[in-house]
Amino acid sequence: MNIKIRELVSEDVVDAAKIHVQTFHDTYQGMIPSEKLNEMTDESMIPRWKDIIEGNKANLILLGAFLDEKLIGTCASGTPRGEFGFDSELWSMNIPKINQRKGAGKLLFQKSIERLTHEGKKSMYLCCIDKNINALDFYRAMGGEITDMSVQRDGYQEIIVKWNKLPH
Ligand SMILES: CC(C)(COP(=O)(O)OP(=O)(O)OC[C@H]1O[C@@H](n2cnc3c(N)ncnc32)[C@H](O)[C@@H]1OP(=O)(O)O)[C@@H](O)C(=O)NCCC(=O)NCCS
Repeated sequence: MNIKIRELVSEDVVDAAKIHVQTFHDTYQGMIPSEKLNEMTDESMIPRWKDIIEGNKANLILLGAFLDEKLIGTCASGTPRGEFGFDSELWSMNIPKINQRKGAGKLLFQKSIERLTHEGKKSMYLCCIDKNINALDFYRAMGGEITDMSVQRDGYQEIIVKWNKLPH
């Protein structure tokens, strides 16, 4: 499988938004309230991704996985939003079902860790919906520790997954 990882740029805004919408609709059905999913459309997400990629106020590491030059997944990481005692956060990973289990997640994860380490980060956490067993299994395979800390969101619950030390 010829998957390449590179930084997301302006030209990727529309595809990154579409990937986000597709991933949410095919992964989070039954995990988050349907009104939230219905609000998530290409039209609503394109301006958000324009802001994320072109504005990048949070100074995130924004990476894309490309299969034969086509964007198939995204990963955002960097400054932690929550105060859980970790100096970085994996904000999101979005790979639609059709391209899952092809190794893109692992490549995106590894490259993000490499970049975070380069920035001097030592530890990391993320929030994952408790019912998202596939993702929890993936993070476990990436060395993450499922904690008993959780965050109650509007209509669903997230678990904190942690890396006390960033993997090498
Ligand atoms: C979770 C996600 C990032 C994983 O990425 P992926 O590209 O599907 O995973 P990879 O193919 O890189 O898997 C790497 C390894 O992780 C483990 N793994 C991945 N998915 C797994 C699953 N569903 N069950 C068990 N192990 C899994 C395996 O060890 C796998 O290696 P293998 O395929 O050689 O056995 C991706 O499926 C995804 O984006 N899902 C939808 C959105 C989502 O849930 N995001 C996370 C939000 S917190």
